[in-house]
Amino acid sequence: MSEKIVGILGGGQLGRMLAASASLLNVKVVILDAGDNGPAKQILAPSEPRLAHIDGSFADPQKIRELASKVDVLTVEIEHVDAAALEDIQTTTGLQIHPSPSAIRIIQDKFRQKEHLASNHLPVSDFVAVDSTVESISAAATQLGLPLMLKSRTLAYDGRGNFVLRELSQVPEAIAFLNNRPLYAEKWVPFTNEIAVMVVRTVDGELQSYPVAETVHKDNICHLVFAPLRSRDASLSQRARTIAENAIRSFTGAGIFGVEMFLMQDGKIFINEIAPRPHNSGHYTIEACETSQYENHLRAILALPLGSTALKVPSSAMLNLIGYSANMSEITAITTAALAVPGASVHLYGKAECRKGRKMGHITVVAPSDAELRARLRPLLQALPDATPAEVDRFAPPPPVPGAGFADAHPLVGIIMGSDSDLPVMLPAARILDRFGVPYELTIVSAHRTPDRLVEYARSAAARGLRTVIAGAGGAAHLPGMVAAMTALPVIGVPVKGSTLDGVDSLHSIVQMPRGIPVATVAINNGVNAGLLAVRILSAGIPGLIGAMDEYMKEMEQEVLGKVEKLQEVGWEKYVVKKT
Ligand SMILES: *[C@@H]1O[C@H](CO)[C@@H](O)[C@H](O)[C@H]1NC(C)=O
Repeated sequence: MSEKIVGILGGGQLGRMLAASASLLNVKVVILDAGDNGPAKQILAPSEPRLAHIDGSFADPQKIRELASKVDVLTVEIEHVDAAALEDIQTTTGLQIHPSPSAIRIIQDKFRQKEHLASNHLPVSDFVAVDSTVESISAAATQLGLPLMLKSRTLAYDGRGNFVLRELSQVPEAIAFLNNRPLYAEKWVPFTNEIAVMVVRTVDGELQSYPVAETVHKDNICHLVFAPLRSRDASLSQRARTIAENAIRSFTGAGIFGVEMFLMQDGKIFINEIAPRPHNSGHYTIEACETSQYENHLRAILALPLGSTALKVPSSAMLNLIGYSANMSEITAITTAALAVPGASVHLYGKAECRKGRKMGHITVVAPSDAELRARLRPLLQALPDATPAEVDRFAPPPPVPGAGFADAHPLVGIIMGSDSDLPVMLPAARILDRFGVPYELTIVSAHRTPDRLVEYARSAAARGLRTVIAGAGGAAHLPGMVAAMTALPVIGVPVKGSTLDGVDSLHSIVQMPRGIPVATVAINNGVNAGLLAVRILSAGIPGLIGAMDEYMKEMEQEVLGKVEKLQEVGWEKYVVKKT
């Protein structure tokens, strides 16, 4: 695929996954890291002696030069490398180094990174440089307010090197905790969610972003990642991708970058941090996207065409396996549970020993729907040694009991009606969805009495994960048509029989949609057909539903054939008497 030899500074789990992608493309890789048996080196036997891995630190200029002399392209799996040595190699030898040493130099110092982002008009929270003194930190607290985020400028990751200053009396404690390291202070960002976008850029500057993921942290370490992002704000994903792309455009060099962002209640986005390398929030791309972050990084730095960043599954989640103690069996218990879960892929990093807080591996789960994804994730969350029922329910709620009358937290179908009086007509649709195990929600949205709610519902339907809407209304029925006008999802209209015109008014209102905005219209009061049509629409993307629909139709056929037999057996005169 490429004759070029790739050198990687760092041989941890990110290097291991890069190496795995490289081996599929038969790209030769040389690793620089301490020891002979790190996660990356374990899976990459050198194909010839001159490509032997190097034992040494990725921060050691001498060792970096040794690696540079063996390879055609240098890259990193960690940003805490000797950027000056890389800059020197680039100027003296002209070696391809990606991302550029200058980008690494800016990003590895979080204060310079923030300055760079702010000067490029990218959204970041207010920040100031501080010294490790009571006066300097107190002045920053006066300027930016409390609580105040104190961060080490360098060598900090997974929340290490961060201190949340809640009151001024904590300043000495903060200085001690942060070990007199170079610091900066950041205005507290009261975010509601954390999101992340991977962005890849070629040597020619072509740029592509991955779908937005939601990240969930626990004890400052990434715990769970969900992709794609679900939101009531239909514009959010595109806004986040644009910000991430613009952020990466401001740096030089090719390869993959991770952009971590904060999402505020009002929909505002702040960039938290940039990683100039593959990132934990992009592990999901291995199983969930057409090209993983690792393969696209290699393609980018080797000047090969980029692969598609699109999702190839409807829903995915990544669970980090963080060491709970020195007891490796705790991790094994979770991975063993994962082997029984459909759509779950186990990644173990081959670390020599387990330690509390150490990233030992991860599990990616993919599924045909969010509801199915959470059902698959549930046993894995339950297998965590520190699982609490509340936390399991928060991320993987049990599906509602069919017929109990409550919405699924991750519905595929929205059943809406103009008025509660339509409920008897719409309930049969719900019963059909129950029968096929299709997750749904059911609620009242009136086109005439709650127009704002209608707009919000229709505009956010697809972004929340709905795939079909069933809308029932009587009289001058506008609900199905207005919903269809504001969402790209298929809409099924159910004309509801009123008192004056017997539902014909509603039928005509729904069926006579203008060209361009179709509404699939079922017979008056036929909620059953609306439910069945929704299942058929979903079955186009969920093959299991086609089989289930076949079964349903066979049952109907058997029912009618049974009546034919009975009619023959007892004669129609008796059959009629029997029936009445
Ligand atoms: C290690 O973890 C396993 C699985 O959770 C448990 O059964 C075992 O008792 C633990 N061993 C020690 C020494 O704590």
